Amino acid sequence: MAFNLLKGKKGIIFGALDSNSIAWKVAERAFEEGAKFTLTNAPVAMRMGEIQKLAEKTGSEIIPADATSVEDLENLFAKSVEILGGPVDFVLHSVGMSVNVRKGRPYTDLNYDWLAKGWDVSAVSFHKVLQTAWKLDAIAEWGSVVALTYIAAQRTFPDYSDMAENKAYLESIARSFGYHYGIRKKVRINTISQSPTRTTAGSGVKGFDAFIDYAEKMSPLGNATADDCANYCVALFSDLMRRVTMQNLYNDGGFSSMGVSELVMKHFGTD
Ligand SMILES: NC(=O)c1ccc[n+]([C@@H]2O[C@H](COP(=O)([O-])OP(=O)(O)OC[C@H]3O[C@@H](n4cnc5c(N)ncnc54)[C@H](O)[C@@H]3O)[C@@H](O)[C@H]2O)c1
Repeated sequence: MAFNLLKGKKGIIFGALDSNSIAWKVAERAFEEGAKFTLTNAPVAMRMGEIQKLAEKTGSEIIPADATSVEDLENLFAKSVEILGGPVDFVLHSVGMSVNVRKGRPYTDLNYDWLAKGWDVSAVSFHKVLQTAWKLDAIAEWGSVVALTYIAAQRTFPDYSDMAENKAYLESIARSFGYHYGIRKKVRINTISQSPTRTTAGSGVKGFDAFIDYAEKMSPLGNATADDCANYCVALFSDLMRRVTMQNLYNDGGFSSMGVSELVMKHFGTD
């Protein structure tokens, strides 16, 4: 169902790699709700060609940008403003990657060059996006910026490794920049802490299948899907949530408030 929640709004969506990507679903929903936007991803992700399909479906232009390159981000914002005909109303940061996780390196034996790379891609890139927009004055008044995160920033999930620190840093940037952008332009900046979701990035975490089942059994409403996340993003981009800012918002079926559930107890054979 569409409600025209984003009618007349312009945006930039980072991170649609394939049809499983959370950003892909956000783009589809934002389009249904009447938004116009540009799509962006790292140049290497372009070569896989999938994003073209999304661009055609949503009538969007693709502007490649490595989210760690300020030069690429300057080009992205300048071109988006030109194509869309003015400053943007929303930005989705749906970017994450840990080299240590990808290469199966244990948390107690991290490679620090890989750690620095993952930190730059997953966390500092969010600051770079915001600072670039700030300097170019490329986000309209009452704009809304959302980045995606995970509860490993607050609780320990051993196989999430150095991504836990990256997400904690990302969430802190949302609060710190949320202050400055709020004062200057009433721009809202939030993070959505999403349930484990079957995507390329998600499936890279060791033991992901067992873990997603565990989270499902722990959450009274079950895991939030990528479609649920897309709906939440659309709501945050809309004018209905104008004074929600500097928050880490859980979209997790209740997981974050649970201690244990009957389903999990049953799994361990307790009555
Ligand atoms: N899947 C999950 O279980 C889950 C749970 C909570 C939060 N998240 C977060 O959601 C976001 C999106 O991930 P996803 O699960 O949709 O997986 P995904 O693999 O589809 O998306 C990750 C995206 O990051 C992009 N990316 C990587 N390096 C980049 C760079 N240098 N510059 C620009 N883009 C780059 C990739 O190309 C890809 O499009 C990530 O921040 C992830 O940590 C995912």
